[in-house]
Amino acid sequence: MKPIPEIRIVNGQKQLFVDGEIFRARSGELHNSSSSTAVYMEKKVWPSLRPLGLNTVVLPVAWEMIEPEQGKFDFSLVDALLEQGKREGVRYVFLWFGLWKNGRSTYVPGWVKRDYETYFLVRDCFQNPILTISPLCKAGVEADANAFAHLMAYLAKVDTERVVITVQVENEMGILGSERDFSPQAEAVFQAPMPDEAAAFYGKKYWSELGENACEQFSVWAYAKAIECITSAGKAEYPLPMYVNAWLEQHPDRPGLFPSGGPVIKQLAPWRAFAPSIDFLAPDIYVKDFRKTVDDFAADGNPLFIPEVRSSPDAIPFYLYAVAQHDARCFAPFGIDDLYTSEQNMDADLLEALNIEAAAFRPDPRTWKMLASAYRQVASMQQTIDKAREEGRLHAFLEENDLGQVMHLKNFDVRINYHVNSGYGGSRPLPATDPRAGGFILELNDMEVLLVGTDVSFEFLPKLGSLDTIGYERIEEGAWTDAEGWTSYRVRNGDEGSRANLGAFPTQLKINLYRYR
Ligand code: DGJ
Repeated sequence: MKPIPEIRIVNGQKQLFVDGEIFRARSGELHNSSSSTAVYMEKKVWPSLRPLGLNTVVLPVAWEMIEPEQGKFDFSLVDALLEQGKREGVRYVFLWFGLWKNGRSTYVPGWVKRDYETYFLVRDCFQNPILTISPLCKAGVEADANAFAHLMAYLAKVDTERVVITVQVENEMGILGSERDFSPQAEAVFQAPMPDEAAAFYGKKYWSELGENACEQFSVWAYAKAIECITSAGKAEYPLPMYVNAWLEQHPDRPGLFPSGGPVIKQLAPWRAFAPSIDFLAPDIYVKDFRKTVDDFAADGNPLFIPEVRSSPDAIPFYLYAVAQHDARCFAPFGIDDLYTSEQNMDADLLEALNIEAAAFRPDPRTWKMLASAYRQVASMQQTIDKAREEGRLHAFLEENDLGQVMHLKNFDVRINYHVNSGYGGSRPLPATDPRAGGFILELNDMEVLLVGTDVSFEFLPKLGSLDTIGYERIEEGAWTDAEGWTSYRVRNGDEGSRANLGAFPTQLKINLYRYR
């Protein structure tokens, strides 16, 4: 029997192990309704996914689909999804759409929706109901935990091939429209002395002593405790790795305008303290400052796992940076089932409600080809990348409204200029969806480098103080694989022998340098 996927610590880092080996998900997340029937998956989804060469698909399983009547479980959809996944040779990250999806409780079964007295809603400070079952609603949390435990028990029984490798517990939870729950039930808890573990964590006796942070921290505690209850019930049946994902703080960034209580990275410590069964926090990235977001989320031992990201062409340099800089465990553009057909058609009102800029989903026929190529290239050199990282020979770069940088390598420096190939020039703003400069440099030998990336040019400089000049001995276009090393497709010599640049499509150059005086 195949081993259960698990998190192990390797060189101080949390790694996802699948079939006993470190696994990186080259993935995409389906639209929210795509996995609601096996027929739709068969007719619309798989034909669009096949050309992308994904090794993993991120897809929802909704509570309402598996427990349509209280206590009566129906796993026929799960069965069909598992069969299809096996046939297609991909793994799954299941998204448990239970009590909360983007802050709201819209994927709960009808019997939960209708019984709003038992499964009571969050209320704002004017006592208006918000369509979010309160994280302090014990009956709701226990009902979700029960359903989730049934799902995990079922997977433990039937998924012997380990198609499902990880589960996201809920989706972008938190309260939208209020900093905290002001319902009478929540108010009583807020006014009472803090529970012991919260008091010990914050070093206070009452929530109000946290001042202007009191409401958000109260929400964090309430959600994290609810998630701990749900996650531990699921793990008791089948201990797959489990994580929570965040709708990021962004302008305007008051709690309640992003889901208050959600697992944003500044809340890593309390989330760890109150929900110890959760293995990591994951960002959904639609903002433009990808670099800062992933740098933040890869801190303090939190592994970088991106279950959702923009599906515009700039996702490709983002991916290369995330791989090289942070060893991304998962990368998954959202709405991946539309990428190949270039029919992305996200409703404008929905995007506005989600605070997502429309450009993040602009259809572009280039995107699927670039993504498939980047996934293929990284997959075939993963071991080389891992070894170079261990030995400090791997260097990532990503444009973020800057012109370039000088990178210091062992034997020389590299001046990296962004956007010289796309024709925009370094100082002109790019259209929002154009590929950006991003990728990595891998030092192969003393005077030999492998360059992988998009939309960038390189100049090699002697170390400051050296009298040498660095020249090009040979520039080759081609591809690196772990199995065969370098395969050359074309040698840039003579007139083209000093053009160390990569175009908008993700490609590779191998360059041998020499010194002269
Ligand atoms: C964020 C959510 O987590 C996803 O489920 C999806 O709705 C996207 N937004 C796309 O709008």
